[in-house]
Amino acid sequence: MARLLCVVILPLITVLTCSYASAQWVLSTGSSLSIENHKQTFLTSPNSDFSCGFQEVGGNAFSFSIWFTNTKEKTIVWSANPKAPVNGHGSKVMLNHEGNLVLTDVNGTVNWDSKTSSGKGTTVALLDTGNLIIRDSTGALLWQSFSSPTDTLLPLQPLTKGIKLVSGYYSLYFDNDNVLRLMYDGPEISSIYWPSADYTVFQNGRTNYNSSRNAVLDTEGYFLSSYGLNIKASDWGAGIKRRLTIGYDGNLRIYSLNSSNGSWIVSWEAIAEMCNVHGLCGQNGICEYLPSLKCSCPPGYEMRDPKNWERGCWPQFNKSCSKTEEFEFIKLPQTDFYGFDLTYNTSITLEACKKICLDTCSCSGLTYKTGSGFCYTKAVLFNGYSSPNFPGDYYIKLPKNIVSKQSDLTCNPSITEIVQGSAKAVMWGLQYSRRKESRKESTQAGKAHD
Ligand SMILES: *[C@@H]1O[C@H](CO)[C@@H](O)[C@H](O)[C@H]1NC(C)=O
Ligand SMILES: *[C@@H]1O[C@H](CO)[C@@H](O)[C@H](O)[C@H]1NC(C)=O
Ligand SMILES: *[C@@H]1O[C@H](CO)[C@@H](O)[C@H](O)[C@H]1NC(C)=O
Ligand SMILES: *[C@@H]1O[C@H](CO)[C@@H](O)[C@H](O)[C@H]1NC(C)=O
Ligand SMILES: *[C@@H]1O[C@H](CO)[C@@H](O)[C@H](O)[C@H]1NC(C)=O
Ligand SMILES: *[C@@H]1O[C@H](CO)[C@@H](O)[C@H](O)[C@H]1NC(C)=O
Repeated sequence: MARLLCVVILPLITVLTCSYASAQWVLSTGSSLSIENHKQTFLTSPNSDFSCGFQEVGGNAFSFSIWFTNTKEKTIVWSANPKAPVNGHGSKVMLNHEGNLVLTDVNGTVNWDSKTSSGKGTTVALLDTGNLIIRDSTGALLWQSFSSPTDTLLPLQPLTKGIKLVSGYYSLYFDNDNVLRLMYDGPEISSIYWPSADYTVFQNGRTNYNSSRNAVLDTEGYFLSSYGLNIKASDWGAGIKRRLTIGYDGNLRIYSLNSSNGSWIVSWEAIAEMCNVHGLCGQNGICEYLPSLKCSCPPGYEMRDPKNWERGCWPQFNKSCSKTEEFEFIKLPQTDFYGFDLTYNTSITLEACKKICLDTCSCSGLTYKTGSGFCYTKAVLFNGYSSPNFPGDYYIKLPKNIVSKQSDLTCNPSITEIVQGSAKAVMWGLQYSRRKESRKESTQAGKAHD
C-alpha cells in the first residue's frame, strides 16, 4: 500500500504529513493498493484534477482507472482492462520490484500489466493532464496511459494510427485512407456511420492526402486532425475542462465541465440525429428519434430478444421462394434501411421497382423515392430508421397471409418500445460474475460513461 511505504521509510513526523497530504502523485517500486482499500486513491495529480485507483463498475466488479476528481458523477477517463474488471476481494495493483505495474485478480492471476521492466528506480506518476506514466531511474518514459485510451481522449492526448476509442460495438479510429471514422462492428454486420458514407472525403470538406494520422483535442476546445477535420466545442476558449468520449450509444461528443456545479455539458456531438448511428435497433429493427430514441419492429416481424434491441427483429413467417407463394408490400412512410442494396435503378415507377423485388427471391423489401424514381431493393435489413427528413418510403415484402393478419397488428401500439442509453449498458454492463448481472447495476455502470 502506498501510504505504508511512507511509514516504513520516513520518520514519524513525516508520516502525518504523508497521510494528511494523501495526494501522492509519484510512487516508487514496491508501492501497491489493495482492493480492500479502494476508497483510497493510488495516485492524485499535483493539481488534484485527476485521481487513479479502483472504481466499482458493477456488482463486486472493479476496474483500475483514472477519473476526474471533482465531478458530480464519477467520470472515468481510462481503465487498465475495461472489458475484464477484477474481483472486489483480493485484487491488487502494484509497481513491483521489476518495475512492472501489475493488476492482479482475486486468485493472483495477472489481469493487466504495463510490461515495463527497468527495475530499481522505476516510478509511476499521475500528471496534471490525466496521463499516468512510468519512468525508469533516468527519467526516460517507458509507458503512458495516453497511448492506450479506452473510450475517452483528454485534451492534448493524441489519437494516432492504430489507436481506437472503443465503447461496446462502437469505435473511433483512423481508417486506411487517413480519415477518422466511427464504426459499428456488431456480431452480424459492421458499418461506418460517420462521416456520412453518402459523401466522399472531399464532399465532406476534407482531404485524405495527409497520412500522418494524428488528431488531438486542444486546450481551447478544438478537435483537430491531420486530414483537415476541424471541430470546435460550442464553448471554445481556454480555462474549461473538456473530454472527447465515445458513448454506449455510439455517438462521439465533446463534454465541457461546469466547474461551479460539477456537471458535464455536451459542447459538440458528431451525430445530430441519433438514428444515424448504426446497429442501435439490430437486424430488421427501425429506429425513431422523437425526441428520445425508440426502436420498433416492422409489420410481420417481432423482437427477437425482449431485453435487447441489438438482436433486432425476427420475421414471423418462413421465407420461401416457391413461385406459388404470393407477396404484398406494406408501405412504411419516410423510412429506410441504410445500405445492403441488391439492385439500384433510377427513374422507374414504383410498380416496376416492386416487380424487381418480386422477381428476386432474396429481396425483403425496397426503398423508393417518388420524384427521382430511385429504387433500391434490399436483401438484409439493417440500420432501419424513420425520419421526417428522409425523402422516401420503405416497402416491406410480406407473404399475403401475413399481410391480412397484419392489418390488425399494425394498429397495436405495443410493438414499439423505448430504448434508453442504458439499454446498451445492459449488454455492456461490466459485471465480475455475468450470472449476477442485474439491470440496475449495469445502468449505473453506463451512467458513469455518459
Ligand atoms: C482466476 O480468476 C479469473 C477471474 O475469475 C478466472 O478467469 C481464472 O480462470 C482464474 N484462474 C485460476 C487459475 O483459477
Ligand atoms: C499533415 O498534418 C500534420 C498535423 O496536422 C502537419 O503538421 C503536417 O504539416 C501535414 N502535412 C502535410 C503534407 O500537409
Ligand atoms: C453552471 O452551473 C451553474 C449552477 O447550476 C449555473 O448557474 C451556470 O449558468 C452554469 N454555467 C454554464 C456555463 O452553463
Ligand atoms: C449544472 O449546470 C448545468 C448548466 O450548465 C445544468 O444543465 C445542470 O442541470 C446543472 N446541474 C445541477 C445538478 O445543478
Ligand atoms: C417455419 O417452418 C418451420 C419448419 O418447417 C415450422 O416448424 C414453423 O412452424 C414455420 N413457421 C411459420 C411461422 O410458419
Ligand atoms: C434496373 O437496372 C438494371 C441494372 O442496371 C437493368 O438491367 C434493369 O433493366 C433496370 N430495370 C428497369 C425496370 O429499368
